[in-house]
Amino acid sequence: MRMTQTSDLWWKNAVIYCLDIETFFDADGDGVGDIAGLTERIDYLAQLGVTCLWLMPFYPTPDRDDGYDVTDYYGVDPRLGTHGDVVELIRTAKDRGMRVIADLLINHTSSEHPWFQASRASTDNPYRDYYVWRAEPPPDTSDQVIFPDEEDSIWELDERTGEWYLHHFYAHQPDLNITKAKVRDEIWKTIGFWLQLGLDGFRVDAVPYFLSDVGLSPQDKEVDDPHTYLRQMRAFLGRRHGDAILLGEVNLPHEEQRKYFGDNGGDQLHMMFDFIAMQKTYLSLAREDAGPLAEALTQRPAIPHDCQWATFLRNHDELTLDKLTEDERAEVFAAFGPEERMQVYGRGLKRRVPTMLDGDPRRIRMAYSLLFSLPGTPTLYYGEELGMGEDLGADGRMAVRTPMQWSDGENGGFSTAPPDRLVGQVVDGGYGPKHVNAAAQMRDADSLWNFVRTLVLTYRACPELGWGRLTVLDQPHTHVLAHQLSWEGSSVVALHNLSAEPVTVPLRLDVPPDSALVDLLRDGTTDLGADGAADLPLEGYGYRWLRVRRDGERQLV
Ligand code: NOJ
Repeated sequence: MRMTQTSDLWWKNAVIYCLDIETFFDADGDGVGDIAGLTERIDYLAQLGVTCLWLMPFYPTPDRDDGYDVTDYYGVDPRLGTHGDVVELIRTAKDRGMRVIADLLINHTSSEHPWFQASRASTDNPYRDYYVWRAEPPPDTSDQVIFPDEEDSIWELDERTGEWYLHHFYAHQPDLNITKAKVRDEIWKTIGFWLQLGLDGFRVDAVPYFLSDVGLSPQDKEVDDPHTYLRQMRAFLGRRHGDAILLGEVNLPHEEQRKYFGDNGGDQLHMMFDFIAMQKTYLSLAREDAGPLAEALTQRPAIPHDCQWATFLRNHDELTLDKLTEDERAEVFAAFGPEERMQVYGRGLKRRVPTMLDGDPRRIRMAYSLLFSLPGTPTLYYGEELGMGEDLGADGRMAVRTPMQWSDGENGGFSTAPPDRLVGQVVDGGYGPKHVNAAAQMRDADSLWNFVRTLVLTYRACPELGWGRLTVLDQPHTHVLAHQLSWEGSSVVALHNLSAEPVTVPLRLDVPPDSALVDLLRDGTTDLGADGAADLPLEGYGYRWLRVRRDGERQLV
């Protein structure tokens, strides 16, 4: 193995942890999490083994889309802290070996952003073309809205000038016209600003939407190929900070996603979330059939060497199932969210992993073992390491944005403010802080937290998982995923049993004589026969990670 490569292209085997500062830890007791609070809890993340922190939006905002509606790209939401606090946070994280990335929101601003206020003032305002306007009444676009519970068109009439502006998301989030060089310049400046303060890159929101040319007439467009903006953004980022990354939100079929990595060794996004593999994982879990996930993984397009997939089970939005067929989606709904109050937008679920898996610890651990063993870079959403549940009483996506559960104390240790002053309600019941909290789990060697920590540390010590070539191994059980990741002459085999039935998995590996399989998550070595064959038992919902050790090799494990 050429270990030095792993530090150069650090994102290829990072462990990313996503959190929203306002729900993480409230240091000043006003009911809202803050940057100083997160900084106080940096060692918690370091102990878990996180290598890259992803901060959800912390910019000034009217907060009508949980901060994804920004009024100042250079600012810090005063409820959370100051620029000074951001710099201290980044510095402290770096001291613990953690990089920090943050959301970059360039598809739209808040309608309260001064640019939009100017843009809507008159048709000849210099900021008019920062946004996308049309004078003609729009066609029916009700099938294109993203939040069908609140919107029925992607165009909104602005009474003052009698024209319509484009908004792919909520009407209070007007889309920027980033085909305009002056708008792109604003965005490059924003990127440069945060890099200068120490960020290591960005999670880029809603990428396909700002690349779309909906509503733009040829004279509106200063560039023909929208991927040019991504290329320009990547080049700018590289000039300012050589190993900073762009991690894109691109929920498209794999073949289309491929274009967003770019060519020439990958000249656009460094990383993209693998929404397809995520959705197929749930289909596989629901059916207890590894087939859909295996197919998604093997049908991923080849990507440029320096690029990477970000794998995940849960994020801050609805658990979208939009890329499944209607029947497949119905299967996942039936298995993991049968009641209407668990579903949202007709395409997704409001729940977190443990509640969907009926709180079965074997199944939950198997699901996270599976996540960390997949080819790619795993991304955790805060609280997953504890098995936090959701608040179905909260509106839509807010169900999974509840305060972090630190202890069994008041407000789960999140804040000392009175409960009615908190930014969100703490989950109650069986998944509330009395039963699920960080302090107790960190002390308990058998807790989910310690299990996830083991996965994190083992993943980090297995660059094969981030870098390797995937083979789905032949074996007879449909409810088992057996896969192998090989890199630079070294390889790891992972076995996952998606069903409750114990099973023995016969494998035949293409390895030199006298090789062995060394268990990485527990004690054990299995000799492979002269023909590379072994029978490997798996418990119900069992999982094993095994490194292939060739005769005479000096791998530590
Ligand atoms: C995607 C984000 O993940 C989501 O939370 C947000 O509402 C939309 N983009 C609009 O910014």
